[in-house]
Amino acid sequence: MFNLKGKSILITGGTGSLGKALTSHILKNNPEIRRLIIYSRDEQKQFQMAQEYPDTKYPQIRYFIGDVRDKERLVRAFQGVDYVIHAAAMKHVHIAEYNPDECIKTNIGGAENVVEACFKTKVQRVVALSTDKACAPINLYGATKLTSDKLFIAANNIKGENPIKFSVVRYGNVMGSNGSVIPFFINKKKEGKLPITDPNMTRFNISLQGGVDMVMHALEHAWGGELFVPKIPSYKIMDVANAIGPECEKPIVGIRPGEKVHEEMITPSDAFYTYDLGKYYTILPATHSWKLDDYIKTFNARKVNLGFSYNSGDNTEWETIDTLRSLIKEHVDSNFKA
Ligand SMILES: NC(=O)c1ccc[n+]([C@@H]2O[C@H](COP(=O)([O-])OP(=O)(O)OC[C@H]3O[C@@H](n4cnc5c(N)ncnc54)[C@H](OP(=O)(O)O)[C@@H]3O)[C@@H](O)[C@H]2O)c1
Repeated sequence: MFNLKGKSILITGGTGSLGKALTSHILKNNPEIRRLIIYSRDEQKQFQMAQEYPDTKYPQIRYFIGDVRDKERLVRAFQGVDYVIHAAAMKHVHIAEYNPDECIKTNIGGAENVVEACFKTKVQRVVALSTDKACAPINLYGATKLTSDKLFIAANNIKGENPIKFSVVRYGNVMGSNGSVIPFFINKKKEGKLPITDPNMTRFNISLQGGVDMVMHALEHAWGGELFVPKIPSYKIMDVANAIGPECEKPIVGIRPGEKVHEEMITPSDAFYTYDLGKYYTILPATHSWKLDDYIKTFNARKVNLGFSYNSGDNTEWETIDTLRSLIKEHVDSNFKA
């Protein structure tokens, strides 16, 4: 377990699905942390989170209102912070398509501001959240997250003598997170109809805890510039629908703008830089200040074959209707019944 005793961590987007799961994990496993700062815009979400984690019981926690578009505010918030986890983002594909400027300001401008605020303060490690949609992106959300990934990875090239390390964690659909398909279907089940965009659609599946574990892994082990990808199962959207509402009608409503039938996390073009770490893959940066041989030796890293790709449609690991039902009960809704 990564020892965070005496450290200060700031989570941008700390009131979101991942931010709350990270908060719970960190407070449970590292009560001796010095500070845990939640940075986000909406006071109501912070107010609600403070009911769950009051500063009377958790004196380590601080709630900081701020926008990642506001660099000065980030610089203020990062004073005395050791580690930053950057989870704040606009993440809904269709909303980003309709409001491109807003998505660019938050996801790209926000990433630039976080990097610059780190250089103006004494932050030592930074982990930024990416998404499978950033891999060979076809929508603006994915394109902005790919740009964000590049900004964080390239930040390692301009750090000079500063020992700070920036890395990125990329994964697929988080089971039960805000706005995701499983809560959507559970809600729609009441109407007897589960709209299917494309019956062939597949997605990668990770639990919130799986996401938390990856972020903690990157925070602890990154040498700087890695893009970590977990080995996770896929599901077929029809299996999700049949797991939740087998009796429901399943009208085909057509794929939405910017959606793919299958998601990718590593393309054949990335394979040249991709290493298998056992539990995770890592796409290494083309430029790095450390020695590749040392990295390979330390992590027992094996280079993947040329032409390798990691795609939700040809994954070797799959959730089934039964495994999906137990995962939904475990991670999304303990009262769930098919
Ligand atoms: N959920 C998934 O399936 C999934 C999959 C792959 C990757 N990811 C990535 O994981 C990260 C976390 O996702 P999530 O599911 O936890 O998202 P979420 O539940 O929608 O939470 C987003 C968080 O970001 C904050 N935020 C949004 N815009 C902000 C801004 N301009 N300035 C400061 N804070 C802002 C939100 O709070 P306020 O609105 O109050 O500011 C909220 O705390 C994102 O980077 C996302 O791209 C998510």
